Amino acid sequence: MLAVAAVNTTLAALPRAVAWCARAGRWEQARTDPEALAAELLRLTAASPVLPRVAAADATVLGHRIRRGDRLLLVARHAAEAHRDTPSGDPGLATQAPFGLGRHACPGASLARAQLAELLRALAPLRPRVLRTVPDPRSALPSYRHCLLTP
Ligand code: HEM
Repeated sequence: MLAVAAVNTTLAALPRAVAWCARAGRWEQARTDPEALAAELLRLTAASPVLPRVAAADATVLGHRIRRGDRLLLVARHAAEAHRDTPSGDPGLATQAPFGLGRHACPGASLARAQLAELLRALAPLRPRVLRTVPDPRSALPSYRHCLLTP
């Protein structure tokens, strides 16, 4: 369970975040502040854009009545609109969204951010460009099948 939660998400997230950094021309920020950029890129690339949930109690959300036991699919807004964004470089509360909230929030979030920050820091001096990306239509998470970079 831990391997699935950790590996699938990381493999989905990191290549897309690096490609986004390259296309947005953010290598200078990757050099100077990779932690902030990593948090923001994980928000934009949203490796887990849909979260299944069962309502624990009756509630009303934005005028919609929800009953205890209702099955819900939460679609993160940051994911739905992320293609319109560029990294702000200013991580805020929304950077927690791709890792969920509450008692089952991802315990690997700090590790995932640190891994991406380290990858960005290592690539920054090379300032790679994206040669080609190929989406993987069979992946459960938004992922690339190939992601080719060139210095
Ligand atoms: C970019 C990488 C990652 C993303 C986007 C991600 C995202 C998520 C999300 C959305 C959840 C569900 C949270 C919820 O239900 O509220 C989750 C749960 C979980 N993640 Fe991650 N994760 C990532 C990396 C990792 C890593 C590196 C580890 C471990 C080393 C990990 C371990 C787990 C575990 C064990 C859970 C289940 C927590 C529970 O149900 O109490 N994840 N993750």
